[in-house]
Amino acid sequence: MPTIYIEGRPYVVREEGKNLLEVCLSLGFNIPYFCWHPAMHSVGACRQCAVKLFRDETDTRGRIVMACMTLAADGTRISIDDPEAVAFRRQVIEWLMVNHPHDCPVCDEGGECHLQDMTVMAGHVYRRYRFTKRTHRNQDLGPLLAQEMNRCIQCYRCVRFYRDHAGGRDFDVLGWHDGVYFGRHADGALESEFSGNLVEVCPTGVFTDKTLKRHFTRKWDLQTAPSVCVHCGVGCNTLAGERYGTLRRIQPRFNGEVNSYFLCDRGRYGYEFVNGDRRLRRPLVRDAQGTLQPATREAALERAAALVRGGKVIGIGSPRASLETNFALRTLVGPERFYHGVPERELALVRGMLDILRQGPSPSASMTDIDRSDVVFVVGEDVTNAAPMLALALRQAVLEKPMEIAESARICDWLDAVLREAIQQEKGPFFIASPDRTKLDDVATATYRAAPDDIARLALAVAHEADPAAPGVPGLSAEAQDLARRIAAALREGRRPLVFSGAGCGSLAVARAAANVAWALNRTGRAARLSFSVPEANSLGAAFFDAPPIEAALEALRRGAADTVIIVENDIYRRLDKVSADALVAAARHVVAVDHLDHPTAARAEVVLPAATFAESAGTLVNNEGRAQRFFQVFVPRGEIRESWRWLGDLAPAAGRGAANPWPGLDDLLAALARAMPVFRDVPAIAPPAGFREVGQRIPRQPHRYSGRTAMTADVDVHEPEPPPDPDSPLAFSMEGYPGQPPAPLIPRYWAPGWNSSAALGRFQIEVGGPLHGGDPGRRLVAPAPAEGSPYFKDVPAAFVPREGEWLVVPAWHIFGSEELSVLAPGIAELAPKPYVAVGPEAAARLGVGEGDEVTLTVGALVERLPVRVRPALAEGLAALPVGLPGMPVVALPAWGRLAKLDRGDNPRATGQT
Ligand code: SF4
Ligand code: SF4
Ligand code: FES
Repeated sequence: MPTIYIEGRPYVVREEGKNLLEVCLSLGFNIPYFCWHPAMHSVGACRQCAVKLFRDETDTRGRIVMACMTLAADGTRISIDDPEAVAFRRQVIEWLMVNHPHDCPVCDEGGECHLQDMTVMAGHVYRRYRFTKRTHRNQDLGPLLAQEMNRCIQCYRCVRFYRDHAGGRDFDVLGWHDGVYFGRHADGALESEFSGNLVEVCPTGVFTDKTLKRHFTRKWDLQTAPSVCVHCGVGCNTLAGERYGTLRRIQPRFNGEVNSYFLCDRGRYGYEFVNGDRRLRRPLVRDAQGTLQPATREAALERAAALVRGGKVIGIGSPRASLETNFALRTLVGPERFYHGVPERELALVRGMLDILRQGPSPSASMTDIDRSDVVFVVGEDVTNAAPMLALALRQAVLEKPMEIAESARICDWLDAVLREAIQQEKGPFFIASPDRTKLDDVATATYRAAPDDIARLALAVAHEADPAAPGVPGLSAEAQDLARRIAAALREGRRPLVFSGAGCGSLAVARAAANVAWALNRTGRAARLSFSVPEANSLGAAFFDAPPIEAALEALRRGAADTVIIVENDIYRRLDKVSADALVAAARHVVAVDHLDHPTAARAEVVLPAATFAESAGTLVNNEGRAQRFFQVFVPRGEIRESWRWLGDLAPAAGRGAANPWPGLDDLLAALARAMPVFRDVPAIAPPAGFREVGQRIPRQPHRYSGRTAMTADVDVHEPEPPPDPDSPLAFSMEGYPGQPPAPLIPRYWAPGWNSSAALGRFQIEVGGPLHGGDPGRRLVAPAPAEGSPYFKDVPAAFVPREGEWLVVPAWHIFGSEELSVLAPGIAELAPKPYVAVGPEAAARLGVGEGDEVTLTVGALVERLPVRVRPALAEGLAALPVGLPGMPVVALPAWGRLAKLDRGDNPRATGQT
């Protein structure tokens, strides 16, 4: 380990090869910086991080260097406090601030601004410039991001993130001499799914959260808690902030294994459903006239308890509900009367993937593993739309192989601009097999467009090439065989190969074929990893429950084995086609719905119990990797809203399960879960229990700068109310508590003296850019099995044969629109497409339709009139139907369907489910 000298004192550096800036920050020194970012490294653009470097102990003059561009080699001697270095840094910030409007009091970034912090840190306290400032016109960048270009200090972080890191193309640095401008060529919504990260990446208030602006509050007035994104299966870690009972914003919470520094825009901006008008806020009970009427908590519970007592009750759980809620329902109704909240096909698919991860030799890949993969094979997945943050990681993976060029040229891996110059357009081997074009195609070595069965066949052929003991694929085309050989050769040569698949195609054959590829590599001595994307926040967690699918619940109701159904955090009209969902409701004499959203299922229930969202409750979700992660309550909702598991606990006595709620707190429920289902035995330990205290104190959700707490409720009572109790966590709804750093799973915000922006995170990490003190939160529930015990999947699907007059309709996923909760946020809804059916150009020609023309789509009993989108890359014989969009009927896909051109004059009402 190298030793460096700062102000003449020796410091041992944990790791060789780092630059002086990250080393000094990790050692706890303050050096101002702008253009360096721990995830994007050094370019030496801003000149803010100057320090004095000395040749040796005899050198008394030294020279100014940029800390971010200088290797912290053994014996390096520097001074941060040297008067020349201090003056240099002060001058730099002065010139960077020349055109800045100094509008902190009205800036959304104010109080949480890296520029403010660095200005203070660098000692620029007096403004000498008295001439006209350069000003810019701001752009309308869509519903998610606000821009105030006059605050720019030209650090180039935004364009480096947007283009180099995230692969966006519609944002750039524009302009001339001092008119440098960072934006789009013209007004319009930014195309990148990761544009929201500009809010943190930009060290000033140029890019700010437009959704927060609509219900703005000063950042120090937010009550925050550690949370987990609920909008897809990746489970990115978040910090959720509330003021006046309204959820105001979502920020990334660092987890080096899951989402690192960033979030996708669905995860960042989907939160507004919590404040939306679709929320259920009061219990509802159906009256004698058949109308749902508001009721008190006691009356609703009494009615629900009577139904539980007197009926043959079953429960339907949900992959968007926590482990605790699913378990509480299972306990209430009994394990044999508990049903999954998803249809058979999806359950088989997700459970199949879980079995692969638990019974196969390939370890499940974390995001860091994905990021560091040097050869990638994507099997049947549109990653950007299914698991967005994993697509961002895959974009970084394509640079891993070319980094070998840099290694051989002895270029430090943090010299970002030098590295990019050295590797030019080189990209690592990256293969994508999918039914249609994906947003990662621009970095792919080769793409293969085919139907799901042909994608599975290609992957099986790759597995066979990698290990001849894996089943071969008869009748493969010469072109596919050749591609399989290329992919297998590249994977075999990789140091860290990755196979990525998921539920996107709706095909278990595809997932199993992907498993064969990874297993073939593992069995032949390669350290291959496997990653699956799953549809919802707790899809994998719910798959651990051994229960039948939702169709079996319908069957139980039909044959009279049950007459009452409790449906928790689930709209069955999004799971089943309307005919089947209607049949389920009709077959049940009584329906109790527990949810936070008003939806068709709740509208048909006899009793509706208003549930807490993720922001109003605590619980555990299992992500696509098999990692169990805890989220915590951010605020106590008004009215009768309660956690789903608490409602279910209150009903337990009615089901003969004790005299009172068996789970007064989350820890009681977690202990019961671990006892009843050994697979979850580690779950209670993933975060400290409610009784945990630091120096005898709770962890405050409110920062020490929180203002107005005595005035907030002055309209009700001039006395400050007692903070609500929290029986479920060691966090407090208060400013009072332990002021230091809590254990990683409990960190409610990042702040350190002198660091008010998200850059304060560096003070919470073992070393800047590395894991949090105490390790990154969460615990994996899956571990690979020995290679010998897991035979290959043997089934080889028949080659896909297009049909005359029919199309295989495959699912199409949209980051904005396909997910049930985020699409209720106005910003996301604005970006979501309208329902459509996509066909290839040949099919469009055969049908005689063009873009926007209407067709009738018939799939089984579904007849739907839809506009056409012509997708040049869609595989022959396929049509694609978007999943989950508002107004889109539910149909199990893939399925064969017919398309017919809709002539003018056709009855527009002759559509819909029949
Ligand atoms: S807009 Fe922000 S991130 Fe971009 S160059 Fe200006 S200050 Fe830097
Ligand atoms: S990738 Fe998924 S979990 Fe992560 S922020 Fe986006 S929607 Fe949320
Ligand atoms: S942070 Fe070192 S030059 Fe910008």
